[in-house]
Amino acid sequence: MEIDTYDFLSYLLYLILFIWISIQAFNLLFSCSETQQNLPPGPRPFPIIGNLLELGDKPHKSLAKLSHIHGPIMSLKLGRITTVVVSTADMAREVLQTHDHLFSNRTIPDSLRACDHYKYGMVWVPVSPSWRNLRKLCNSHLFSVKALDANKNLRHQKVQELLDDVRAVAEAGEAVDIGTAGFKTSLNLLSTTFLSVDWTDSSSDMVRELKESVWTMMEVAGKPNLADYFPVLKIADPQGIRTSMTFHMQKMKGLFHRIINQRLQAREVTTLIQENDTLDTLLNYFMTEKEREDQLLYKNSIEHLLLDIFVAGTDTTSSTLEWSMAELLKKPEVMSKAQAELKQVIGKGNQVKESDLTRLPYLQAIIKEIFRLHPPAPLLLPRRAETDVQICSYVVPKGAQVLVNVWTISRDPNTWENPNEFIPERFLESNIDVKGRHFELTPFGNGRRICPGLPLALRMVHLMLGSLIHSFDWKLEEEGVEPETVDMDDKFGLTLKKTRPLRTLPTPTFSK
Ligand code: HEM
Repeated sequence: MEIDTYDFLSYLLYLILFIWISIQAFNLLFSCSETQQNLPPGPRPFPIIGNLLELGDKPHKSLAKLSHIHGPIMSLKLGRITTVVVSTADMAREVLQTHDHLFSNRTIPDSLRACDHYKYGMVWVPVSPSWRNLRKLCNSHLFSVKALDANKNLRHQKVQELLDDVRAVAEAGEAVDIGTAGFKTSLNLLSTTFLSVDWTDSSSDMVRELKESVWTMMEVAGKPNLADYFPVLKIADPQGIRTSMTFHMQKMKGLFHRIINQRLQAREVTTLIQENDTLDTLLNYFMTEKEREDQLLYKNSIEHLLLDIFVAGTDTTSSTLEWSMAELLKKPEVMSKAQAELKQVIGKGNQVKESDLTRLPYLQAIIKEIFRLHPPAPLLLPRRAETDVQICSYVVPKGAQVLVNVWTISRDPNTWENPNEFIPERFLESNIDVKGRHFELTPFGNGRRICPGLPLALRMVHLMLGSLIHSFDWKLEEEGVEPETVDMDDKFGLTLKKTRPLRTLPTPTFSK
């Protein structure tokens, strides 16, 4: 068969095109582009899905195991998304301190596109003048020592109500679901502090619904979502995650909307612009002359900020309380030692106050140990590389998602003796704290995006736990269960929760 020059050139062209497409497809599937050759080591990705199957339903633990094989900085391909995971204190310092400015923005989970939350929510907006203003507002008005001292009596009152509730349950010989009680109290602490709204008397259905909304939002935001790994699927929302998020977000935004409107109406009656609580501070802050003309804009901004505060501040604190109680029930000798300290410093029958907390070193050590073993956000919140960033001899490529596995960092045997044991005493002689100075223990994150609610969270957690164990003795509801066998399984959402809610029987330590 004769092939003329024209046919030959056509075949050659097809061959070149075929080889070029094959190379592109190979690169696409096996991630061998030039920059990526300097990627940190990691498990070999499967075509298309990458390493998705290796995440499992407890990503913090799967990633910890993988880091033992691939090292303190490793890379994975989650669908189309290159993800870099750091798993030691030194590597966390590289991300959160040395190169903080290049890792300060976040990858946005598709679920957070619900209600356009990623455009307004402080947790998700990129570092920008409006984010800086929100941080300034938090640091100087919402969580400053002055602001927190000004409303500490409200928190004392709410915790006293928690104790009254528990006393009533004790008298009825029933058990307390610690997570729910902690959630309700955290919610009330925030609602009275921020909005002067008391939800204590509201129907328990509302508290249950809010709890369900917050937990579902945390759960779906932390759930592996195909739309995050394969951006083409965003439109379809194949697992219905964004739809579910939209439903719960709208519910909470609607509630805040009603509260804001009521406050505005009340302010119209009096001509004085008050500054009584945080909502007034927010209204005064957001209502510049220009914004006053555009009510929707500033109301929307406040609703998104409140949404972040209530979601970030309730489940994290209540799950910390629940883990604390579970660990204390597992180790009765630690519980007795903490109760003895409280009895000595506070005195039998007296209420624990925030001003007492500095005089309770053992209680503080317990809480640090809980944050070490059960960080509520085990992978912090995702960060994103703004440019190619060199860490050690590796390149974290522009646009990569960066996760800091604080769960494994705070169980690193090179830093912590008996890392999986609950031993609060380790903190009595140590200056390590959780406030972002020590990369071995950073449950609140670090750098410019460190949790702004940290000062309030620490007050709330210490106050609730200290009060509960000072006023009551606790034992497990189930007869015959040995303390050391308390179920400590966790389930992964955006916060790490106990799989089985903790139910315990209280007995008052003194009569009223
Ligand atoms: C036990 C309690 C809490 C823990 C463990 C916790 C943990 C965290 C973590 C790990 C981050 C991300 C930090 C990073 O990216 O480096 C964060 C951010 C944030 N937290 Fe908390 N948090 C807690 C309580 C609170 C409370 C009580 C509030 C408010 C009332 C709050 C509000 C926020 C906000 C608004 C952000 C976003 C900050 C930003 O991106 O600029 N958190 N938190």
